Amino acid sequence: MKLWSGRFDKPTDKIIEEFTASLDFDKRLYKDDIAGSIAHAKMLAKVGIISTKESDALQSGLSEIYREIDSGQFSFDIGDEDIHMAIERALIDKIGSVGGKLHTARSRNDQITLDLRLYLKKEIVIIATLIKDFQAILSEKCRISKSAMMPGYTHLQRAQPILFSHHLLAYFFMLERDFNRLKNCFLETDVMPLGSAALAGTSFPIDRDFVSSELGFSKISDNSLDSVSDRDFVVSFLSSASLLITHLSRLAEEIVLWSSQEFGFVVLDDAHATGSSIMPQKKNPDFAELIRGKTGRIFGNLMAMLTVLKGLPLAYNRDLQEDKEGLFDTIDTIKPAIVVIGSAIQAMTINIENMEKAAGTDFSTATDYADYLVKKGIPFRAAHEVVGEIVKDCIAKNKDLSELSIDDLKNFSNDFDADALELHSIKNSVDSRTSPGGTAPISVEEQLAKSEKILKSEEEWLSTNEYTS
Ligand code: ARG
Repeated sequence: MKLWSGRFDKPTDKIIEEFTASLDFDKRLYKDDIAGSIAHAKMLAKVGIISTKESDALQSGLSEIYREIDSGQFSFDIGDEDIHMAIERALIDKIGSVGGKLHTARSRNDQITLDLRLYLKKEIVIIATLIKDFQAILSEKCRISKSAMMPGYTHLQRAQPILFSHHLLAYFFMLERDFNRLKNCFLETDVMPLGSAALAGTSFPIDRDFVSSELGFSKISDNSLDSVSDRDFVVSFLSSASLLITHLSRLAEEIVLWSSQEFGFVVLDDAHATGSSIMPQKKNPDFAELIRGKTGRIFGNLMAMLTVLKGLPLAYNRDLQEDKEGLFDTIDTIKPAIVVIGSAIQAMTINIENMEKAAGTDFSTATDYADYLVKKGIPFRAAHEVVGEIVKDCIAKNKDLSELSIDDLKNFSNDFDADALELHSIKNSVDSRTSPGGTAPISVEEQLAKSEKILKSEEEWLSTNEYTS
């Protein structure tokens, strides 16, 4: 019999029961549901709604149920609909009618958003930790490969030489923003919703602040209707996760390119690549392709949640039950993706020779020639035109910039002097880009120093929000 069966003449049709149940997926919230119930039971006694003895019975019954679920001894029954009722029914079975007092001044509508918030806070910290660990890997890889140069690209055409570490650091700073977005999302999630009692609040003298501090929340929600209808924090998380997987996917795409024979910039560790069932020679970057591919489902989960919310009248509607699977799927998808790409980057070797060879061809130092003339007082547009002519001439004669003599250069502009013969050097080019954030070793060193500071402050935040369970 349902806990809510009083006003019904018939049992629920099996197909309705199965269609409406969320137990299969919301049972992963059991820890949070029980933690919420224990805090609620404590509060009910504190304000005198139930006796201390009754509260103690509720709390020890709940703790026992916790242990049973945790050890796999609890038997779930889909007829209970969701994790809240599964636990409440088990409590009543265990401690008798006093178990029925637990639901005083609360509703499942409050419970589910509480459970989700408690669960998500922990997951945010876990994911933020993975981001920080990945950033540390990137930073370490930069230190190892600091002087290695590669072509920087625009439009996937060789543009200017850069340091490989400069390129990796670009991802470090993307991940810093991802970390900060998750921090903001944590703040949004860190609001205690219990006490809405379905939607309108309650006539019982509940102490919401007490429950909030018992459960480690920073504050209580301000409006009972908003409290049970709000899933903005889920959208914020899904949106943060979407940007995070976007960044991982861009890097994954680069790994696919770099490890191809066409680029040959990196060699993946054999333990991270996968073979072909038909072509014996193949060594494929499947993990990177899957990270790229998994962005689809994470974006989809964000779209699904936004669509569920759009047009929902206040307050709770059962549509909101659709918040969970996409959220769980996103969490389950993003965590291994961060770990996998991190360990692949850590273990891959870079082929400096190939990268530097590629950086030194296709006139990638042409901008340096133009900048040289500008420093002699020629307007940039005119200098650009002159160097364009030089490049055109080289292409026609199948020559590289490094093959030009000073006379060749002087044919295009008298402002070229002997020192211009060094302009083709990719090292000189890289070394010269000393502007803050630039690719010169000195600028990259500053970025690395900044990355160390960022890692420290991330560690600090994580240590104040550590979760053990
Ligand atoms: N399983 C529901 C959910 O996930 C629980 C909330 C309350 N259900 C209800 N019929 N009021 O949202």
